[in-house]
Amino acid sequence: MSEKIAITLTVNGKDYPISVEPRRTLADAIREECGQTGTHIGCEHGICGACTVIVDDVPVRSCLMFAVQGEGKAIRTVEGLADGGGLSALQSAFMEHHGLQCGFCTPGFLMLATAVLEREPGINDDDLLDALASNLCRCTGYQNIVKAVRAVAADARAR
Ligand code: FES
Ligand code: FES
Repeated sequence: MSEKIAITLTVNGKDYPISVEPRRTLADAIREECGQTGTHIGCEHGICGACTVIVDDVPVRSCLMFAVQGEGKAIRTVEGLADGGGLSALQSAFMEHHGLQCGFCTPGFLMLATAVLEREPGINDDDLLDALASNLCRCTGYQNIVKAVRAVAADARAR
């Protein structure tokens, strides 16, 4: 076991001073050291996207990043989406369009889609499909996930 390093992770605007081994993944640190268990871990090698969080406005697979690399960066997880207790537009759309079943993939899809829509709010359907294709869901068949995110993008285009 290698020596632990003291770092501070900033998750959803809150600082977490923690100690981690250099090999500790960001996903594990967010869940275990910071106690934010909304971020899920599936494949642990960058395939499924369940662990997607937003780091400095970019969606990243937190199982592929070391916790020490997250120091000084603004990390956002699914716990930070609801604003003052109210669901984000995307969270509401997932409910409305039945974009989840077991919910395991949901935090990853929400964070991926949040980052994509922040970068390009009115993204067209084809580009959206391309972006969402990077995450896996074993339950829904994807249709309702795509429908939910498309609904939020369509709203943005209409505004
Ligand atoms: S757990 Fe990170 S991509 Fe699957
Ligand atoms: S809702 Fe079960 S894996 Fe997506």
